[in-house]
Amino acid sequence: MADRAADEPDPRVGVFVCDCGSNILGTVDVPAVAEYAKGLEGVVFVDEGRWICSADYLAQIKAFINEHELERVVVASCTPRTHEPLFKDAVKEAGLNPYLLEFVSIREQSSWVHRSRPGAATRKAMDLVAMGVAKARLLEPAQEIRLSVGRTCLVLGGGIAGMTAALGVARQGFEVHLVEREARLGGLLNRLHMLAPADIEAHKMVERQAAEVKAATNITVHTNTVTGSISGYIGNYSVQLKGGSSDELEVSTIIVATGMGELEPQGLFGFGSHPGVITQMQLEAMLADPKASKVDGKAVAIFNCVGSRNAERGCCNVGCLASIRNAITLKERDPAAPVFVFYRDLNVQGEEANYVRQALKGHDIRLVRYDPDTPPEVVMGDDGGLMVRARDLLLDVELQIPVDLAVLTTALVGDPSVEELKGQLKVSSDKDGYFQEAHIKLAPLDFAGDGLYVCGGARSPKGVRWAMEEAMGAAMRAVIPMRRGYIEAPGIICQIDHDLCSECGLCAKVCPYSAIEIVDPAAKRKVPNALEALCKGCGTCAAECPSDAIQIIHYSDRQIEAQIVSALALEPEQKILAFCCHWCAMGAVDLAGVSRAEYPPNARLIRVMCSGRVKNDWVQQALDLGAGGVLVAGCEFPTCHYINGNYKCQKRIERLTKKLAKKGYKTDRIWNVWMSAADGPKFVATMKDMVEKLGLDAEAYGIEDEDVDEDGDEAGDGGGG
Ligand code: FES
Repeated sequence: MADRAADEPDPRVGVFVCDCGSNILGTVDVPAVAEYAKGLEGVVFVDEGRWICSADYLAQIKAFINEHELERVVVASCTPRTHEPLFKDAVKEAGLNPYLLEFVSIREQSSWVHRSRPGAATRKAMDLVAMGVAKARLLEPAQEIRLSVGRTCLVLGGGIAGMTAALGVARQGFEVHLVEREARLGGLLNRLHMLAPADIEAHKMVERQAAEVKAATNITVHTNTVTGSISGYIGNYSVQLKGGSSDELEVSTIIVATGMGELEPQGLFGFGSHPGVITQMQLEAMLADPKASKVDGKAVAIFNCVGSRNAERGCCNVGCLASIRNAITLKERDPAAPVFVFYRDLNVQGEEANYVRQALKGHDIRLVRYDPDTPPEVVMGDDGGLMVRARDLLLDVELQIPVDLAVLTTALVGDPSVEELKGQLKVSSDKDGYFQEAHIKLAPLDFAGDGLYVCGGARSPKGVRWAMEEAMGAAMRAVIPMRRGYIEAPGIICQIDHDLCSECGLCAKVCPYSAIEIVDPAAKRKVPNALEALCKGCGTCAAECPSDAIQIIHYSDRQIEAQIVSALALEPEQKILAFCCHWCAMGAVDLAGVSRAEYPPNARLIRVMCSGRVKNDWVQQALDLGAGGVLVAGCEFPTCHYINGNYKCQKRIERLTKKLAKKGYKTDRIWNVWMSAADGPKFVATMKDMVEKLGLDAEAYGIEDEDVDEDGDEAGDGGGG
């Protein structure tokens, strides 16, 4: 796709402006905005509607499109984040490509937030419409990408989460390949003894679940097997197995359930230097031994939160319950043996808390609360035995206790296989080896790439029940596209102009989805090829490309630049040009609107899918056009909806700021702010701050009511366009 050529005839633009009852009309002079729109270049039809998202008016829009042969449509109403799909459908039903619609928010961005300044709100609405028309004139048709999705799922990891996910998918009638690197199914549970709070023996749970897996005729189990390579995309993954099985699998979806393990507490509490200092999981293995000879009758001190709940990592989520369960087992085996549990506080809730209360009754287990600033110590006594020195925080006494075993409830981390697997899947993990989901709130069981899901201990430390619940969730996520038989991806994707490309290969490096491949990686010329099925349209590649050789459909350079010029056509020195990502930044803008929070009317917002799309050229262009301020706003770290677009944006803006400072620009006019979709107040504060600190005049800007005559004609400069 190329942008419209300059010599192509102007498309016929229709503008529909909504009153939204009194939501917009109560503040904005909508007839004046509609009248103003009539004067914008390319506009051949304008209509004002009371509720333009109503079924009646949508039918009217379709009729107007046909009657006036409209080729582009601008809707000026509420927020595209909720209503754009509705209007896209209407445009489509009228026979127009849905990507020829541009949506302008004059409610959340104007009437609701500038209620006490109707003149300024009206002026802003006019500007936003003009910006919308400027972009709409350059819009090009695009197509959704439909990918067929088959009926086979691969589950990696044969622990409790993997088996549960496999059964969940198989029970829905789909084929499953379950890959386990060990010789038998069960994973971590094979090394555990008793599961609290249900008090089920771990091996019994494994046996029951494994029997169901083996009985399922549509599950193929590959034990002693790992993945050698994984390539492709949803509906079309090729997986080479190695080890016990060397099959090459063609699967449509992949669920990762590779589990977790203990962080070796080397050096802590004498671990590694005294055989009597062991981990909780080593104790589990001893307890699971039917003879149990190694622990019976011994004095045991259990220490919770070893290596967790510190600056490095949070709670392990299972340690408190496991420590209490194992303390009880020790007492059940030998009621006379002294057992101590040293804890910071017990992180158990609901059913687990009841279990702990009940279970402790009748067992002489000494719970000792310690202060994390002065944690207990384990030292070697003169006789070579172990001595615990601690202060009981609740009783305020110093303790010295000789013990035979010191058991450390250590932090949990992702499985070591994560390192290799994340390269194969092209996904991310955190520093503790847990895979990172696409979005912690919006897509907690999805990876960023379509058709890839994660659950259980592979994602974060958790107990059996939680892991099984997640596994069922991941199974259902995988089933959805397989049941439908296809997925449809938006047509907002990147396109490479090979005539402009300098073949530097940077785009392939920065793409967070590996959606740009280098045709021949061994060759000197790094010729890029865009894989449409993988592209999410974040635009980071286009923003980073030094040759301007990449465009994003619906967010092309020319379209955005037309918006910039339009926004700054009038009184640029009083304006803030704000690039806001569609997700969190626009979410915050919308929330400020819904909250009816008032802020200065100086900003003109340009929507991009991700802050990663914002080119340095655009920021400089805005400054060159005299903008009073430029804001680039995106999702707070680390929750960019395109993995790392915000990080890339931040680095780019830093580089630009240094470069422009050297050239003598006033770089204090460039603001880079990160916010969550719940940060409406932060957006409001940013607006107020920018206006104040940049010395913009919130009062000077805007037309006053008397500037609009009774017919709605604006008396001043038509501007914009
Ligand atoms: Fe908001 Fe990337 S989606 S910054």
